[in-house]
Amino acid sequence: MHVLAVINNKGGVGKTTSAVNLAAWFARMGHETLLVDFDPSAGSSLHLGFDPAANSASTLCDYLIVRDGRLGEHIHATTVSGLSCLPSEPSLGEFYEEVQQGDGVEFFLNRKDIPEKFRFVICDCPPNMGSLAFNALSLADFAVVPIQTQYLSLPGLDLTLEVVDKARRRLNPSLKLLGFFGTHFDRRSAVAGKVLDLLRQRLGSQMFRTVIGVNSKLIEAFQARLPVLLYAPRARGSEEYRQLAKEMLKRMNRIAEQKKDSPKPTRGDNEWKHLA
Ligand SMILES: Nc1ncnc2c1ncn2[C@@H]1O[C@H](COP(=O)(O)OP(=O)(O)OP(=O)(O)O)[C@@H](O)[C@H]1O
Ligand SMILES: [Mg+2]
Repeated sequence: MHVLAVINNKGGVGKTTSAVNLAAWFARMGHETLLVDFDPSAGSSLHLGFDPAANSASTLCDYLIVRDGRLGEHIHATTVSGLSCLPSEPSLGEFYEEVQQGDGVEFFLNRKDIPEKFRFVICDCPPNMGSLAFNALSLADFAVVPIQTQYLSLPGLDLTLEVVDKARRRLNPSLKLLGFFGTHFDRRSAVAGKVLDLLRQRLGSQMFRTVIGVNSKLIEAFQARLPVLLYAPRARGSEEYRQLAKEMLKRMNRIAEQKKDSPKPTRGDNEWKHLA
C-alpha cells in the first residue's frame, strides 16, 4: 500500500481536483484506490458524489465517533471501477477538536485500520495545517504538492515544506516528498510561464514534468460530481492528470527500487530541507 497526501497550506490551488482525478486515474490503471477526504469542507467527497447535505453515506466523522477499527464500514464504492471513497463532512473539524480535548487522542485514523486491498490511498488535505492535515501526513508515505502557477504561490511554499519536514521529524520518519506540480497553468500568460521557470529552477527534478493547465472541463466535472476521465475523457485536463498519475507511479517505483538497496530513513533525516 502506498499512501499519498495532497498538501498545500494555500487554499484553492487544486488539491481536491488533483486528489480526485489522480485517484481516478490510478484506479483506471488497474490499482485498487481509496480517496480519504480529510477536509471538513468535503470537496472531494462532493466531487465523487457524496454530498454531506444529503446525509446519505457514513463518513470519516462517523468513524471518529465510534473509532472501533472497522473503517471499511465507512468506505464506499464510486462511479469509477476500482475507486472507493472515505468521505468527509463539515462536522469532522468540530468533532476532531472535541475528541482531542477529551482524551488526548491525537490521530484517529491509523494506517493499520485501512483495508489492505488498497494499493493506493490518496488523502485530500484541508488548506490549514491543523491536526487533520497532520493526521494525513502521519500515515502517508509521500507528500505531493500542487502549486498554482502564480507569483503569489511562491512565498507560501516554505510553510508547506516546513510542515512536511515537521511531520517527518516528529511523526513519520518514512514520509517522503514525492514532488511538486504546477496547476491552473495558463499557457497564454507570459507570467505563468515565468513562474513555472522559477519553480523549475528552484525545485529542479522535484518538479513533475507534467503541468495541469487551466481547463474548464475540470470545473464542469466537479459540478457533474464525476472525475474528469468519466465526464470528459478527451479533455486536456483528463489527459494531463493521466500523464501526472503515470509520472507519479514511475517515481514511486524508482524510490521503491532504491529503498531495496539502502537503509531505512531515520528520524531527523533531512535531505530535501535545502529546498525550504
Ligand atoms: N486546472 C484547473 N483549471 C480550471 N479550474 C480549476 C483547475 N483546477 C482546479 N480548478 C478549480 O479551482 C477551484 C479550486 O480548486 P480545488 O478545490 O481543487 O482547490 P483546493 O486546493 O482543494 O482548495 P481548498 O484549499 O479550498 O480545499 C475549484 O473551483 C476547481 O474546480
Ligand atoms: Mg480542497
